[in-house]
Amino acid sequence: MLDRPVVTAPPLDAPLRRGPAKPNLLSVEEAKSLDVQSMADLFKDHINPGQFHFMKLLGFHKVKVESAEGMFYTDQNGRKILDFFGGFGSLAFGHNHPRIIEARRRFQDEKRHEIAIAFLSQYASALAKNLAAVSPGSLDMVFLGSSGSEAMEAAVKVAERASGRKNCKIVHAENSFHGKTKGVLSITDSTLYQGEFKLVENRYKVPFGDLKALTACVESDPDIGVVVLETVQGGGGIVQASTYYWQGVRALCDKHKVMWVADEVQCGYGRTGRFYAFEHHGVVPDVTALAKSLGAGKAAVGAMIARREVYMKAYGTPKTAMIHAQATFGGIGEACVTAIEGLNVLYDEDLIGNAEEVGAYLLERLEAIRQKYPTIIKEVRGQGLMVGLEFQDFSRTLPLALRPMVAILDDKLKGSLSGFIGALLLRDYDVLVAFTEYNRNVIRLEPPLICGEEHVDQFCDALDDLLSRGIVSIVKDFVKSQMG
Ligand SMILES: Cc1ncc(COP(=O)(O)O)c(C=O)c1O
Repeated sequence: MLDRPVVTAPPLDAPLRRGPAKPNLLSVEEAKSLDVQSMADLFKDHINPGQFHFMKLLGFHKVKVESAEGMFYTDQNGRKILDFFGGFGSLAFGHNHPRIIEARRRFQDEKRHEIAIAFLSQYASALAKNLAAVSPGSLDMVFLGSSGSEAMEAAVKVAERASGRKNCKIVHAENSFHGKTKGVLSITDSTLYQGEFKLVENRYKVPFGDLKALTACVESDPDIGVVVLETVQGGGGIVQASTYYWQGVRALCDKHKVMWVADEVQCGYGRTGRFYAFEHHGVVPDVTALAKSLGAGKAAVGAMIARREVYMKAYGTPKTAMIHAQATFGGIGEACVTAIEGLNVLYDEDLIGNAEEVGAYLLERLEAIRQKYPTIIKEVRGQGLMVGLEFQDFSRTLPLALRPMVAILDDKLKGSLSGFIGALLLRDYDVLVAFTEYNRNVIRLEPPLICGEEHVDQFCDALDDLLSRGIVSIVKDFVKSQMG
């Protein structure tokens, strides 16, 4: 708990207050100077005490980030941590890219306006134009928001209206993740997140990547008007589908006049080596959504991009135009400036090409490591800089002597090596990786698109060295780290 400063009486000559006395507020400088223990106490007191338990298991709770630049965080002890987590794909430019910072600084120095509700915003208009320019086909109409969930809500709504079905039903995939706001939560396939909430009922669930199952579902009910799919499943553990599948999805939706919504919040923005992952398959959806890296690591920006014909069908008249117009922070000034500069940097620095090339190198090095440790790594998969590393389930192969040790761990870690490996990569090698919602055996690697081969080497050398300890030592080292 923080010590509360002693409240002293105001001096007699202080001006008379009309409003309430100032509560005990921390200043920005005090926030900056909080130590690790105070940060943890405040997190547990005011944010999420249960979540702290998981941060502790992984050793994240010991790190206070003092600065971040490019591929690295620097902590309170001057330790540089290589970022292969990349905010689940939110950091295409790494941390604090100089051109992004400069564009934001200029915007502030010029005292530009932020809230774009009353007057038109030159920045929102320009960002929408840029998004149309990078999007194939007639994906030309843009809704701006401030998160992936908000962009996906907008995507599902525009598709539902454009489908023309009165009692429109939606198809989504097993292991899908589309956000946690109430609407898209209904098509996010997680019993944990869906909890006991009352969900939208007009939905069907099909296996991801299975065209036969999707076709049977769509053809079973003429009320189905929307199919929503991540092009690469992130929360599902970096799962791709074939070009045959995606071309089949397009043809099926055309045949039945069903809207196809491609969620590119995580896999889009150049991460797989194309601006949109669906571009690998020569198809264009009716509606798509971006967020994460669209904010260039400095702002909260989400966007729904719809084919003009689809948008006009849904909201194209003065009578329907305000049904889903932008919310308070949609198209906010500095966020748009950040996103405009980000898109320019993405192409000026050829970061999509870099993602493709360095991603291929990462996959090649990881495959060699898998072949060296086949009893530990089950599969390496992905494309560009969106890579999944799946470990073998060791719950039954673990030596008997170690089983009681593992039994004391959280249920979620049993049978899962990824938690142990992630925690030790951070503790012993200064490398940060991401975990996966639905498949605890998968580590997600989504480094910034500025990643070079030298960073891949640093990561792969660390992984190789850690795996060379063998499973027994890895488990023992992890359990020891929990005792300390
Ligand atoms: C594919 C996908 N869609 C939607 C979302 C929701 O985005 P946000 O967390 O910004 O609301 C995410 C977030 O991880 C995502 O990965």
